[in-house]
Amino acid sequence: MGTKEKIAELQKRSAKIELGGGEKAIEKQHNAGKLTARERIVRLLDKGSFTELDKFVVHHCTNFGMAEKEAPGEGVVTGYGTINGRLVFVYAQDFTVLGGSLGEMHAAKICKALDLAMTTGAPVIGLNDSGGARIQEAVNALSGFGKIFFKNTQASGVIPQLSVIMGPCAGGAVYSPALTDYVFMVKKISQMFITGPQVIKAVTGEEVTAEELGGAMTHNKTSGVAHFAAEDEEDCFGQIRRLLSFLPSNNLENPPRTDTGDDPGRMDDFLNEIIPDNPNASYNMLDVITRVVDNGDFMQTMEHYAPNILTGYARVNGQVIGIIANQPKVMAGCLDINASDKAARHIRFCDAFNIPVVNFVDVPGYLPGMNQEYGGIIRHGAKLLYAYSEATVPKITIVTRKAYGGSYLAMCSRDLGADHVMAWPTAEIAVMGAEGAANIIFRKEIEAAENPVEKRAEKIADYRERFATPYVAAENGFVDMIIEPRETRPRLANALEMLATKRETRPAKKHGNIPL
Ligand code: HXC
Repeated sequence: MGTKEKIAELQKRSAKIELGGGEKAIEKQHNAGKLTARERIVRLLDKGSFTELDKFVVHHCTNFGMAEKEAPGEGVVTGYGTINGRLVFVYAQDFTVLGGSLGEMHAAKICKALDLAMTTGAPVIGLNDSGGARIQEAVNALSGFGKIFFKNTQASGVIPQLSVIMGPCAGGAVYSPALTDYVFMVKKISQMFITGPQVIKAVTGEEVTAEELGGAMTHNKTSGVAHFAAEDEEDCFGQIRRLLSFLPSNNLENPPRTDTGDDPGRMDDFLNEIIPDNPNASYNMLDVITRVVDNGDFMQTMEHYAPNILTGYARVNGQVIGIIANQPKVMAGCLDINASDKAARHIRFCDAFNIPVVNFVDVPGYLPGMNQEYGGIIRHGAKLLYAYSEATVPKITIVTRKAYGGSYLAMCSRDLGADHVMAWPTAEIAVMGAEGAANIIFRKEIEAAENPVEKRAEKIADYRERFATPYVAAENGFVDMIIEPRETRPRLANALEMLATKRETRPAKKHGNIPL
């Protein structure tokens, strides 16, 4: 064979592999409302930026007629490219090839991409669309999953790892996504479960559809397994690109600083009006956040889960920040098990990747109830305390209204290491609400009074005036400054600038023991 023929041979082999499972299988994939692995990569990455690796890898399996079965690309497309001009690694399982099932060499391709992502310090994005462990490969397929789990864990905290569920994801296969930082799901086409509807029916008798059991909204709203829900694949790729714009490529970098064109000195008079006079009335904390951050651009994570706390990313003066905020509109902004888990995880990601944490606090307390106690609110709530205390990135707390008792401490109080605490004049920082406090400390006086109802009201008012303010906390140095709500943005920009060079070291240890 001459050079010309050899080049033609390369082109022929390449084209065959690029066709994956063939035209019929591609048509089936499209009819299921799904793009193919290669189409997905092209749409996700910057135009023309993809470089494929390991295209010619083949499986080594000879069981059950596999020796004669070709699996172009080994059922997974791997490589690298750019998103917004920044290097990322990507792998996309090809459902048209043996159902995207994962065998030994399929896993080896993924592991190679993960290794390169770690050594070059670039995020990795896994597009999952697979029937799970390749049944013919038996324990070798399981071993493939095990190797990926191990690598995901090694990469955790070193590079951002994103998992995108774009088809079925069953059995132990769900655990690679679960080990990564963010899970994206697409409505109608993606499902995740350990055991599927048929097994559940056989074992427990429960009848449930795959979508109800493990669809996008189930995991975004109910289980908290997924962090983002997309309407369709295109929407999903847009969300991924947006999320990455907030993140550094690895733990040794700072998040990218951009010129957002929004004046850091901009004040907002609306914020002076936002807190209702009635302490039991609610307002939308999202309005506060979007008015403070650059161009109102706030990307929520886990938007549908535990909406009593808001988490996400934004920028102030071009500096990326991670936000944790109580949402008075939902359950009065109480902390509960799910809110604690959601916030703690966000804080730990921010801390691992050098993203300052900004907290907007309006929290009346922990949600009371047997469900919460039996569910382990003590253990889950402790995660929040732990995550804040452990974080060494700049931590800024802004108390807009309520900050009572344990929940005051939990929301990144000075004592959990906040570097800078601001309070609005509407802040109420105290051990407990005025009603409860007056009932306890003035009980005898109220009972002995001629008119106990009047006395009680008087004592509540006394307490509220003295303690339901930011002044006692400021007098004791727990609050650094009391600011007008309208000046929150300039003050925050200024505090972030002041803390930009923050360095904090902790005692050396192997790792801490976060209450799991
Ligand atoms: C080998 C598989 C496969 C698998 C699918 N295929 N899953 N081949 N191993 N795990 C093949 C099918 O034989 C078929 O090949 C092609 O992929 C497309 O599959 P269909 O069934 O035709 O597609 P569809 O009707 O869309 O159904 C998709 C599916 C179903 C729901 C994923 O295929 C299915 O239930 N697969 C098995 C899922 C499963 O139990 N996996 C093992 C989980 S345990 P042909 O040649 O006919 O086109 C696991 C353990 C991991 O993953 C543990 C990690 C610790």
